[in-house]
Amino acid sequence: LGVRLNRICCIGAGYVGGPTMATIALKCPQLEVVIVDMNEDRIKRWNSDELPIYEPGLTEVVKACRGKNLFFSTDVKKGIEEADIIFASVNTPTKTQGVGKGRAADLRFIESVGRTIAQYANRSKIVIEKSTVPIKTAEAIARVLSANEAAAGGSKNFWILSNPEFLAEGTAMKDLDEPDRVLIGGQDQDAIQVLADVYANWVPRDRILTTNLWSSELSKLVANAMLAQRVSSINSISRLCERTGADVKEVARAIGTDSRIGPKFLNASVGFGGSCFQKDILNLVYICQQFGLEECAAYWQQVVDMNDYQKTAFTSKIIQSLFNTVTKKKIAVLGFAFKKDTGDVRETPALMVCDMLMKDGAIVHVYDPKVVIEDALTEFKYHDLEVNTNQLIFSKSPQEACDGAHAIVVLTEWDEFKTYDYKSFYDKMMKPAFLFDGRNMLDHAALVDIGFEVHALGKGQ
Ligand code: NAD
Ligand code: UGA
Repeated sequence: LGVRLNRICCIGAGYVGGPTMATIALKCPQLEVVIVDMNEDRIKRWNSDELPIYEPGLTEVVKACRGKNLFFSTDVKKGIEEADIIFASVNTPTKTQGVGKGRAADLRFIESVGRTIAQYANRSKIVIEKSTVPIKTAEAIARVLSANEAAAGGSKNFWILSNPEFLAEGTAMKDLDEPDRVLIGGQDQDAIQVLADVYANWVPRDRILTTNLWSSELSKLVANAMLAQRVSSINSISRLCERTGADVKEVARAIGTDSRIGPKFLNASVGFGGSCFQKDILNLVYICQQFGLEECAAYWQQVVDMNDYQKTAFTSKIIQSLFNTVTKKKIAVLGFAFKKDTGDVRETPALMVCDMLMKDGAIVHVYDPKVVIEDALTEFKYHDLEVNTNQLIFSKSPQEACDGAHAIVVLTEWDEFKTYDYKSFYDKMMKPAFLFDGRNMLDHAALVDIGFEVHALGKGQ
């Protein structure tokens, strides 16, 4: 290909760019990795002791590599000029206006990366889509690059690869260290080989899958849609269990032992959250519609609709149980993050649950080991949900949140929630004291013995 292969640049220092590049730097000491981002504050934090994201094991890796072969910078131009391999790991949120509003992916950041590379590239480069994108996005990037190159009368080559990321937040470092697979899609075998060789520094070759560009782009959306579909499927069954006396945990165990179904991703919950599941399914829905596949679109749309229903059904049950009103009642919410071991609140189910409780007049006291109120308020605002800060209070401890509360509502499965002395919480709560376990993670029999009225998810009373 005629490119030097010792320098990598990643555009986008977020939840994916940061951990992924830190792992490459750790596993490939012979390579120099520079992560650039236009967000100055984020880069400042990557260069400090307080990293901008919480991810178990990340700080150790960043500290081991930063300043040696891992660098964080706002100098996008220099990053592009010096690197031969450029990853685009920018955000691809759902469009909030215009054509495809609420479903299509907003590709303006990806497009701007293409244009910036076209502007600053001084020689041929391999450009890698790390972001999750709609099928055929590589074609758009290639067109932006080749049209600009032709207009400038140049002869540089740009090889576009798709290399979607499958890490999950909270386990990102482990997922990167031992991925089930690495997926590389491309048209040029030599370019594919360059990237495969980077991963082969720590990933067994038989786990490095190569495909054509379009299969790779589409596989990422399909993987997320299938995972989310399992959660919506078991959540729909949790509703039926509550009506019939079955226990969704027992059902999940019974079906999960069938090796064709498998035991993972069958935990009924208050609903899935996170920045990607909903966005990627909606994107898949939009793509199906674009190709005239209305039935396919409706099928996947139902996964998202079921998720919304689960969140409202769970919250309605809380309000109903508390004698049909939570006005002026203190409700203790344990957990605000969309899952344990992350401080990320994007699309967290806690948003809809707290919003519904507050709209009914509740005073919500949240305790989360990692989430701060500023991040929660930003997420409410992003969703155009008004918050009266007299009704949303973030407590410093679970004791503080539960003191005088009518109910405890568990929304995130943080391990520490299992270790609390619920008897001491109960003693200081209003009676009857309710507990709604939105993650089915606590010892319900022990809680009933203490005196709680326990509402487990998906368990008939
Ligand atoms: P993020 O919002 O945390 O990070 C994206 C970063 O890109 C931001 O810091 C932003 O400032 C920067 N950026 C945007 N445009 C830029 C430009 N033109 N120049 C320089 N910087 C720019 O997003 P994320 O969670 O890391 O997700 C990134 C992509 O990876 C998305 O497409 C997402 O769907 C996908 N993904 C995310 C996860 C996850 O767990 N979060 C997992 C797999 C895939
Ligand atoms: C998910 C995928 O698991 C990753 O493979 C993918 O790379 C990523 O999306 C992405 O593209 O962003 P993530 O959203 O970080 O990762 O976390 P998950 O562990 O998948 O959980 C997503 C949501 O589903 C959480 O709210 C979680 O609590 C919920 N969930 C998960 C359940 O309710 N039940 C389950 O059994 C599993």
